[in-house]
Amino acid sequence: MLQKLAQLLRPKRKYIDARVAPRDGGARVALPEKLPRHVGIIMDGNGRWALERGLPRSAGHAAGTEALRDIIRASDEWGIFALSIYAFSTENWARPRDEVGTLMGLLLRYFESEIDELFRKNAVIRIIGDIDGLPEKQRTAVLRAMERTKDNAGLRLNIALNYGGRAEIRRAVERVAGRCAAGELQPSEITEADVERELYTAGLPPVDLLIRTSGEKRTSNFLPWQAAYAEMVFNPILWPDYTREAFARDLSEFASRSRRFGKVHAEEVS
Ligand code: FPP
Repeated sequence: MLQKLAQLLRPKRKYIDARVAPRDGGARVALPEKLPRHVGIIMDGNGRWALERGLPRSAGHAAGTEALRDIIRASDEWGIFALSIYAFSTENWARPRDEVGTLMGLLLRYFESEIDELFRKNAVIRIIGDIDGLPEKQRTAVLRAMERTKDNAGLRLNIALNYGGRAEIRRAVERVAGRCAAGELQPSEITEADVERELYTAGLPPVDLLIRTSGEKRTSNFLPWQAAYAEMVFNPILWPDYTREAFARDLSEFASRSRRFGKVHAEEVS
């Protein structure tokens, strides 16, 4: 009886022509009806992917950039409203100098090579993180990309660069405190919306689904405020091997979850 009910409640799947990348072999993917509005991804495992192949870590990051390209295309095609990706944390500066250099180089090339396509696809690029702390060339490239796409209305693509969640909240608190000091707001009147307005993600819906690849099960200071009620999926696949099929499976996993936001469903009340 319960099994039957669960079957009836299971979300319907629709099959779409996924126009997958050649490396995916042209397979069709199954997408659930209920898609998250905002997906966050911690793209982990580039280093291990390279190590397994006897390659330098930089090769892992380059392969990771290819995987990212396809996941962004899929998000756009499948109608996901916002995608936030963790590209470089405030802690990543502590990696060896040549690895930081590789990541910054990839970033620059990414913006040079992808911006036209992203613009054509109507994407809105937003850098979340401390842009002022980026090297000059990268800063110029990301500011230009944001300016160019700011009036678009498609996929909201948030790229976390020089990002830390606690630093983001500290910055928001400083700004709200500034409003209090200016006499605009009483401390006792501060609402969650006042804080949210000062986050990098202002105006976007909260993260519904947070995916981390490579099997690590932590969120590493990524969008702690925005993902407070997110469903978490920890996928063992290393990021460079993460395909749109894997993404579709994680979206199905999301659709199968029952989200209660701290409440109980009516049928659970006895
Ligand atoms: C974590 O893997 C990944 C990163 C620190 C960087 C993620 C960056 C990319 C996927 C490409 C660059 C991004 C853009 C926007 C062009 P890791 O190196 O920590 O892997 P490991 O845990 O296996 O060592």
